[in-house]
Amino acid sequence: MRTSFTSSASIPAGTAVIAIPVASEGPVPAEVGLSRAQLSAMGFEGRCCATLVLPPAPRSKTTRVLVGIGTVKDLDENTMRNIGAAAARACSRHTSMATAVATSGRLDHRAAAKAFVEGAALALHRWAELKRDKSSVPALRKIVLLSSDAQVRAGIAEGTAVATAVCTARDHANTPPSHLTATRFAREALAIARKSGLRTTVYDKKQLQAMGCGGIVGVNAGSVEPPRVVKLVWAPAGATKKVVLVGKGVMYDSGGISLKPSDASHASMKMDMSGAAAVLGAMSALRALKVKTHVTAYLMCTDNLPSGSAMKLGDVLTFRNGKTAEIHNTDAEGRLILADGLSLGAETKPDAMVDIATLTGACIGALGKKMAGVLGNDQGVVDQLLASSRRTDELLWQLPLFGDYRGLLDSNVADMKNIGGPFGGAITAALFLNEFTGGVPWAHLDIAGPMESDGDNGWLNRGATAFGTRLLIDFVANFQPAAKKPAARKKPAARKKPAVKKK
Ligand code: BES
Ligand code: MN
Ligand code: ZN
Repeated sequence: MRTSFTSSASIPAGTAVIAIPVASEGPVPAEVGLSRAQLSAMGFEGRCCATLVLPPAPRSKTTRVLVGIGTVKDLDENTMRNIGAAAARACSRHTSMATAVATSGRLDHRAAAKAFVEGAALALHRWAELKRDKSSVPALRKIVLLSSDAQVRAGIAEGTAVATAVCTARDHANTPPSHLTATRFAREALAIARKSGLRTTVYDKKQLQAMGCGGIVGVNAGSVEPPRVVKLVWAPAGATKKVVLVGKGVMYDSGGISLKPSDASHASMKMDMSGAAAVLGAMSALRALKVKTHVTAYLMCTDNLPSGSAMKLGDVLTFRNGKTAEIHNTDAEGRLILADGLSLGAETKPDAMVDIATLTGACIGALGKKMAGVLGNDQGVVDQLLASSRRTDELLWQLPLFGDYRGLLDSNVADMKNIGGPFGGAITAALFLNEFTGGVPWAHLDIAGPMESDGDNGWLNRGATAFGTRLLIDFVANFQPAAKKPAARKKPAARKKPAVKKK
């Protein structure tokens, strides 16, 4: 059961706690009943995201929680999201909360309500499906934003759609690998797609073999669980822009024949499908957000396990686009399944493609756990992702798609090897993917670092983060294709071209 968000002009009867916004300057709201000096003496200065619990006012039963909103002119969507998270955490032991925090700044009310809802819902999210003792799940189930503004209602609806997408993606990534197989994940994706107005196709192992998807079939060879590719399509009426999303859905990454050592940290390899989970989450929100971009998504789902039938080092796989790769490490499996996904995506001739994957430890080495790497063959697509990153507070840092390193992938027997040596691993992985983009403007998000959070912090909670879900929603919602070259638009010039090429 998730927290519900509604709006109301007045505090509903029986509300357990009211969260009162207090800025770090200017007058203290009268309902607080304390001076700034008194608050200061209690260590509460109204700084952004600081909270202070006060007992109910005389003759009232409603607990009061002061929520610092800092300097009002500094408020933006990112601070409001964190303020929502802080308010929710401070009130999490109560069952219901009412607040005017979201509408207290000069921020546009719709954007403020959306950000507040996102922060609060994400801070309150827990995955406790397999816990018998659910006492760690916050009691806060009902949050009322005090406003009668239609913009606030719209913001609540948008924030709820986004937060639901992220929470669903977190649930999937937190679910143990034997509970969430590729088959079950595909079934869940279908159920979500049906509720979100998406068209769907699911490809099974036989179909993938017939389609020439040797990458995902090869990675799957060691598993008794069959693979699934789920294609989801959001096709709004009159769409003029077309984007493809591809998500790495390795349900469990043992490394395969290149087995990872037994280490408790590898329990997180159940989250190696976080890219696919983020894509599914993002797709689930597009109808509610009235997104005008046509979006096709591919969830590439399989385990990576060793067995007598597993792919071996030295094996050569042939991918959907006909290229071949020699396997030098079966633990570099993500790029093998993405190769088929990107090839399929490129065939639909979109304006842009984005893949998202828990792809390399090297990216964690380069950037740490708080940001993802972004690399691409098109600066316009990368720049739009960086802009989404700033708006969503899901941090990205661009790494170079440095062509000189392509030689590190050269193979004696195939078009390439699947690893590029000990250095620059995030870059060589992206160079591998680039071979399957078929000239489509493309960017790759390496989310190995931020897929999991070590603690509760703002809108992040310990466990799977579903990083990229909000970023992808923002990206497709705001996507602008590169301006077509003027020459290509002139019909005579365009007609001449093929004739010249035929020679
Ligand atoms: N899924 C892993 C990458 C990963 C590592 C994600 C840690 C999240 C946390 C990926 O499949 C992998 O094993 N990559 C190898 C590639 C190497 C063999 C070239 C790696 O990074 O070590
Ligand atoms: Mn691996
Ligand atoms: Zn992996």
